[in-house]
Amino acid sequence: MTLVDRFGREHTYLRISLTEQCNMRCVYCMPADRMQNCQNNRVMSANDVVGIASYFVSNGVNKIRLTGGEPLARKDIADIMGGLSALNVELTMTTNGMLVHRVLSHIVDAGIHSINISLDSLSRATFKTITARDVFHRVMSNIHMLLERGIRVKLNVVLLKGINDSEINAFVGLTEHLPVHVRFIEYMPFTGNGWDRSVVVTHDDVIRTVSERFAITKLADSPTDTSKKYCVEKSAGSFAVITTMSRPFCDGCNRLRLTADGYLKNCLFSNDEYDLLTAYLSGQGLDDVVQAALSGKHKVQGGQFSRVALDVDPTAIRNRSMISIGG
Ligand code: GTP
Ligand code: 5AD
Ligand code: SF4
Repeated sequence: MTLVDRFGREHTYLRISLTEQCNMRCVYCMPADRMQNCQNNRVMSANDVVGIASYFVSNGVNKIRLTGGEPLARKDIADIMGGLSALNVELTMTTNGMLVHRVLSHIVDAGIHSINISLDSLSRATFKTITARDVFHRVMSNIHMLLERGIRVKLNVVLLKGINDSEINAFVGLTEHLPVHVRFIEYMPFTGNGWDRSVVVTHDDVIRTVSERFAITKLADSPTDTSKKYCVEKSAGSFAVITTMSRPFCDGCNRLRLTADGYLKNCLFSNDEYDLLTAYLSGQGLDDVVQAALSGKHKVQGGQFSRVALDVDPTAIRNRSMISIGG
């Protein structure tokens, strides 16, 4: 079965959330009412994850990203990576970086060549303000450890006006000498995350700020990219902006999401969920549930945002919180 939706978009990229638990408390992610996400205790086992992933790989998925919560907080993360590494798929992960040193050998053994790490500040104090954890040096040391092992590192920076936007050029400066790929992310609204338009720093704001200091070149983007890529001339790395709010990129969407409790989501912003784990455990086959998810997919942003996403009323959004979707 090819995973094509009503708009002809082929879905070759599966994001699997392994847990709703996280060892950080990022201000832009954690819902104000944390309890609302703890009602459902169901969690996919390592075998469920590998079994379901294998179905998707047989049906055209060629990239799997492990997300969370914090994926490395799973006690059986080595088993999951090991199981997935046997599939014919590009395996990758988005992590906050705090536990990388503990599982580095498993990451390497699983053939993971690229990892995305959330790093919202280059200052220890601001890092602590945003994450509520004093582990800036640990995360930086883990980033260097990954680079030394030849793993490509993308750094995710959620920009928050007045908190870390003064560091835009420091992050871009980092790419001059370090082969990292910084992605500034436009802050997105989710249930309970306190989103407000006035805090969003957009693509155009970033480019204006960077251009005041650096001569930059536009790099080519692929139609399925979430980001607009740039680099400073002769630099070791690059930077980009993930433009969900100011320039949505849904036309090229190739993503499906599996939540840690086993529901398939056809869009980051869709409130519709399809119970894949029950179908998997019953042995009835996954085709019907997956087909329903594909036919229910909206053209743009789960059908929830107005044409200008920045004008969205955050209180009207019906969705899980970011921590229980998995990004
Ligand atoms: P690559 O696979 O390396 O391109 O990374 P990615 O950007 O897909 O994933 P990552 O987990 O690093 O997420 C970075 C930011 O992009 C987060 O804020 C995500 O929520 C956001 N993002 C990821 N996928 C989507 C998507 O399908 N739609 C939108 N609007 N944002 C997304
Ligand atoms: N807006 C934008 N990005 C977010 N992330 C978490 N919450 C938000 C939000 N509200 C990012 C994390 C992580 C990635 C998976 O999603 O920083 O890097
Ligand atoms: Fe795909 Fe939804 Fe993201 Fe748009 S918002 S790119 S449709 S997941």
